[in-house]
Amino acid sequence: MNIKVIGSYINKFGELWDKSLTDLMQEGIDGVLVDAGLEPKAIEAIFVANKAGGSFNQQRHLGALASEQFTHFPPATRVEGACASGSLAVVAAQQALLSGLYETVLVLGVEKMTDVSGAETSAILATAASRQKEYGSTFPALYGVLASYHMHRYGTTREQLSSVVVKNHLHALTNPKAQFHKKFTLEEVSNSVPVAMPLRLLDCSPISDGVAALILSTKKSTRQTQLLGFGQGQDTLALADRQDLGQLAATHKAAKQAFNVANLSQKDIQAIEVHDCFSIAEILAAEDLGFFPKGQAAAAIANNQATYGGKVVINPSGGLKACGHPVGATGVKQIAFLANQIETGKFETVLAHNVGGSGATAVVNILGKK
Ligand code: COA
Repeated sequence: MNIKVIGSYINKFGELWDKSLTDLMQEGIDGVLVDAGLEPKAIEAIFVANKAGGSFNQQRHLGALASEQFTHFPPATRVEGACASGSLAVVAAQQALLSGLYETVLVLGVEKMTDVSGAETSAILATAASRQKEYGSTFPALYGVLASYHMHRYGTTREQLSSVVVKNHLHALTNPKAQFHKKFTLEEVSNSVPVAMPLRLLDCSPISDGVAALILSTKKSTRQTQLLGFGQGQDTLALADRQDLGQLAATHKAAKQAFNVANLSQKDIQAIEVHDCFSIAEILAAEDLGFFPKGQAAAAIANNQATYGGKVVINPSGGLKACGHPVGATGVKQIAFLANQIETGKFETVLAHNVGGSGATAVVNILGKK
C-alpha cells in the first residue's frame, strides 16, 4: 500500500445549532482542501460517511449533495455502517485507490444529530441494532449488558469504568476540537445520573454534530502519514446471537487483518484511537485489539497504563467520550486526528478502531510515518 493522508480537517464537535447538514459538509470540504493546499478540481471521487441523515435531517442522497459542492461534480458515494460509517468510507476510498481507478479522493464524515429530540435520537441510533431481536433497546442498554457481563466474569469494577472516563476527559483538555473541556473525578463519574445500569451519564459518549474530512492520495507528497493496513470484521447484529459477550469478535478479526497487512504487531504502536462510545467499550477494545490480555485492561487503564508514560496511549484525542460522537464523522475524525499527531511528530505508528452497533461491524486502520 502506498496511500498517504495529504489533507485532514476536523471541526469542533458539539451542539451546532447554527449549522445545517449542508453547512457542515461545505465546512469539511473547504477545510480539507485548504489543509491539503489543493484546488477543488484535484478531487477525483468522494466517499461520504453518514449514518442517518434521512432520519435526523430528512436528507438522504448525501453523495450527490457532496458532489454538487464542486463545479466538476466528481463521482460520489455514501457509505453506511452505523457508527463505523466513517472508517468504512476510508476503507472504500483505499479500495478505490488500490484499484488504480483514482489517485486522489476525498472522504467526508458528517452527522447532524441535534435537530431532533433526545428520545428521537436514541430511537434513530437504535435502528443500527437488530430490529427483530432487540426492538425497544437503546445503545446504552445494549452496552450496559456488555458492561454487566464483563464485571461479572472478569471482576471489572465501577471505579475502573470511571477511570476510562477520567483519562479521556483529561486527554481532551489538550485537544481544542473536543466537545467537552472538563475534568471529572472518579467519584463524579461513578455517581453521575444512571442511564442504563451499570452505565451512567458520564460513561456515555454524547450526542453531537460534526464533520471530519480526509484527502487520500497515491501521488507524491511531502506529507508523512501513510495508511499501512486496514482490516474489517463482522459479527451478529444481535447480542443474543453471540458466542461470547466478553469480547467483540469483530474487533479481533479486524485487528488481525490490519496487523497482517501492515506487517506490524501491537508492540510497534504508540497510540490508539478506540471506539469508546461507552466506558466499557474502551476496555473491550483494549483487550480485543490485543494490547492487554482478556480481563486485564480495566485494571491497566486504572493503573495509568493507557496514558502518556504507560504501555500505549489510548484515545489521546479524548475519544468519543470527550470529543463527541457525531456518528458518521467519528471514524474519519479518528484518522484525521492521528494523521495530525504523526505530522506534528507526537507519534510514529498508530491505530484507529471504529465500531458499528454493539460490535456487528469493526474496522481497524494502521497509520505510520514514511
Ligand atoms: N459527557 C459529559 N457530559 C455530558 C454528556 C457526556 N456524554 N452528555 C451530556 N453531558 C452534559 C451536558 O453537557 C449537560 O450539561 P449542562 O447541564 O451543564 O449543559 C448535561 O450533561 C445533561 O445533558 P443532556 O444533553 O440533557 O443529556 P441527555 O440526558 O439528553 O443525554 C445521554 C445523555 C447519555 C442519554 C445521551 O448523551 C446518549 O444517549 N448518549 C449515547 C449516544 C449513543 O448511543 N451513541 C451511539 C453509540 S453506539
